Amino acid sequence: MFDDVLDRARRWVGDWLAGLGERPVGVPLAPAAMRARLDGELPEEGEPASQVLEDLAAAVEPGLVASAGPRYFGFVTGGALPAALGADWMVTAADQNAAVYAMSPAAAVVEETAGRWVLDLLGLPGDATVGFGTGAQMANVSCLAAARRALLLTRGWDVESDGLADAPVPTVVIGEQAHATLLQALRLLGLGSGRAVRVPVDDQGRMRADALRARLDGVTGPVLVCAQAGNVDTGASDPFAAIADALAARGGEAWLHVDGAFGLWAAAAPGRRHLVAGVERADSWAVDAHKWLNVPYDCGMAVVRDRAALAGALTTSAAYIGFGELDPSSRVPESSRRARATPVYAALRSLGRRGVADLVERCCTLARQAADELGRHPEIEVLNAVELNQVLFRPRHGDARELADAVQRDGTCWIGTSVWDGRPALRLSVSNWSTTPADVTRSTDRVLALVEAAGQR
Ligand SMILES: Cc1ncc(COP(=O)(O)O)c(C=O)c1O
Repeated sequence: MFDDVLDRARRWVGDWLAGLGERPVGVPLAPAAMRARLDGELPEEGEPASQVLEDLAAAVEPGLVASAGPRYFGFVTGGALPAALGADWMVTAADQNAAVYAMSPAAAVVEETAGRWVLDLLGLPGDATVGFGTGAQMANVSCLAAARRALLLTRGWDVESDGLADAPVPTVVIGEQAHATLLQALRLLGLGSGRAVRVPVDDQGRMRADALRARLDGVTGPVLVCAQAGNVDTGASDPFAAIADALAARGGEAWLHVDGAFGLWAAAAPGRRHLVAGVERADSWAVDAHKWLNVPYDCGMAVVRDRAALAGALTTSAAYIGFGELDPSSRVPESSRRARATPVYAALRSLGRRGVADLVERCCTLARQAADELGRHPEIEVLNAVELNQVLFRPRHGDARELADAVQRDGTCWIGTSVWDGRPALRLSVSNWSTTPADVTRSTDRVLALVEAAGQR
């Protein structure tokens, strides 16, 4: 019954992966053109599954972006390691509901093991708890839910039961360049993004520890400090040891959270670990697997030192379920859920400790290469220190957004934009396992050719 449809899917996947390295990377396709291919009426009668796949593949083809390919440098985007991709297919076919142990003992224990390996690789406390969710966004929500619970309990307030009205809400402190998803997490949890105390940052976007100390001066009561490993533009990480020192005297009335969506992976590479020194002193960490670990979307992890706080914040109960610690969904906001730790397990086994370190180190080296190749051109200014996998640059005279548009239309590679020091800039992120030095040179050559062409107009 499945053979025909799986054969078709297998053929499509084979062609897609074989072409990934050479198809134009960007797809400047207008929404109307895409809709025209897909927005027909719902058919009254069903159609054969293999025909549906055939038609769907043809219809979506021009709107697919080679974002899992080696020259996609947009946002912070990983590809899919072969073992992780294969495991993800198996997850889909097995179709386990990884909510509770009883529904899939296999999924639950694979998740336990993958979580333990992640703690080991990242140098985080071995007895911390790990929830696997959709990405760093929900990992931030999960971690901050645990923080909210623990901090309010120090004041005898059970927020899960009593809500936030009249609660002794903690003082929330964030860096001026906290990621948008961290702000979203504060909003969703009723802590508010606007009322957070903002700490000035240095020229790489790192929270300034002296400014944090000044902001905390005179603040009494529970404090939640949200730091960051890996600024989305520069890759720089906050000074965790100094931040932890500044909070030390507050004991249980302070909670340090680290949004480390991609930057926390620096801890897995001996040559980069110093960039996140002291990060293990935090209370919770959000980190993605679908970025730098290169598993298929979607997967991120919420790591929390205080197991009871995460469980207390997120465990639900119903007469017919009875969630307990063995049940994966007691560590995430979702109930029914995909066995999304399985590709993480496969990725980690296929790479091993050394392979993960190599992956991180290689991407950083390639980012340095890109910065050097771009920076040698007199018209390009590299704006960040390039210690991790991010390169931020702009043309000295031309328009950064126009250059990015030209790069995206050209299709050799894909580079996005941001705003740095109040002016547009291009940001290039090397996060894909399959990117080679030749891919970088091919891309920077093309960017520089476009810079030259713009200069001649
Ligand atoms: C620092 C940081 N936090 C959070 C996120 C959000 O991650 P996700 O889209 O996986 O939820 C990102 C994404 O780039 C990030 O760089």
